[in-house]
Amino acid sequence: MNSKISGLGHALPARIVENRELEDVVETSDQWIRERTGIERRHLSTGETTTDLAAQAGRMALADAGILPEQLDLIVVATMTPDSFMPATACLVQKELGADRAACFDLSAACSGFVYGLSVADSMIRAGTVRRALVIGAETLSRMIDWTDRTTCVIFADGAGAAVLEATEEEGIVRCTLGASGDDENILTTRALPLRNYLIPEGAGREMPGNGYMVMDGQTVFRFSTRVVGDSIRQTLEDTPYGTGDLDWVVPHQANTRIIDYAASRLKMDREKFFVNLKNRGNTSAASIPIALSEMRQEGLLRPGQLVMLTGFGGGLTWGSALVRF
Ligand code: UT7
Repeated sequence: MNSKISGLGHALPARIVENRELEDVVETSDQWIRERTGIERRHLSTGETTTDLAAQAGRMALADAGILPEQLDLIVVATMTPDSFMPATACLVQKELGADRAACFDLSAACSGFVYGLSVADSMIRAGTVRRALVIGAETLSRMIDWTDRTTCVIFADGAGAAVLEATEEEGIVRCTLGASGDDENILTTRALPLRNYLIPEGAGREMPGNGYMVMDGQTVFRFSTRVVGDSIRQTLEDTPYGTGDLDWVVPHQANTRIIDYAASRLKMDREKFFVNLKNRGNTSAASIPIALSEMRQEGLLRPGQLVMLTGFGGGLTWGSALVRF
């Protein structure tokens, strides 16, 4: 049994923030942001929660697949900005959608989260544990941004994307590969609550740096990203009948146009095959790949039969790719 993506959806907060607006927030310029990242504008929440966006994207994906919420066996939400530690965002989405039969959990793999989620759902379908799954990448990153830190606040944004996966005899998800390097934990990090309880004297708790805000060593992440995109794509194509020449599209995590340019040239691939929506969306972490796929579907760019490589990379450090026949 294989699994295939049968529906796509996405949701964005209503408020669009242009680069110029951020010139009033931190010492930056529209020109610097465009030239160094490729971003011109992004959507930021003025009240939409991760659950709101995830449920909206999920509803659209279900309608696109033509299935009812009660037909879902599984909901996986990849997020690092949940509305609550408990319950999981997936449970809150289940309630919003009325997907009463679904098992629900969240998954934490930062910007690789959607590809990790796809791989888990695909494996569960192949194992016969579930038949229909909803995999969502959803973030409200604006809540974990230090809005005085110009190295992160101009990049990250909010949004959600979703895919319905269904069991099929046809070719669908061909192969997923995942990886991580915990040794590089400090390069891109958001620490949680400090370890504090009644046994630990005041002030002796293990304070985590960053105060709950995202901290990024941009240049080191940049070097990692440019290397890992090519390596991960090559690894995923290994042991399949396909090569880079067979790919109709590469949909990379939307982090920086320069990373995407570099990956295309390293793989000796036509840059036009890399879908990029960074200009209007910014970096939405786990949501960036499914938002891109849903927008491609809306624009008529993603057609049945096409072979597409999805590649995520980010905090952990983590990375992963999925080769998908649509
Ligand atoms: O989604 C997870 C994965 N994340 C990524 O893949 C992000 C990877 N990293 C990047 O995309 C890039 O490293 C950044 C876009 C974050 C930064 O671009 P960069 O070309 O690596 O810039 P830099 O860090 O080398 O900084 C160059 C200069 C510095 O000034 P000096 O020291 O040369 O005077 C920075 O202080 O640019 C300055 N700078 C800014 N200037 C205006 C940093 N941020 C800004 C800013 N506006 N927002």
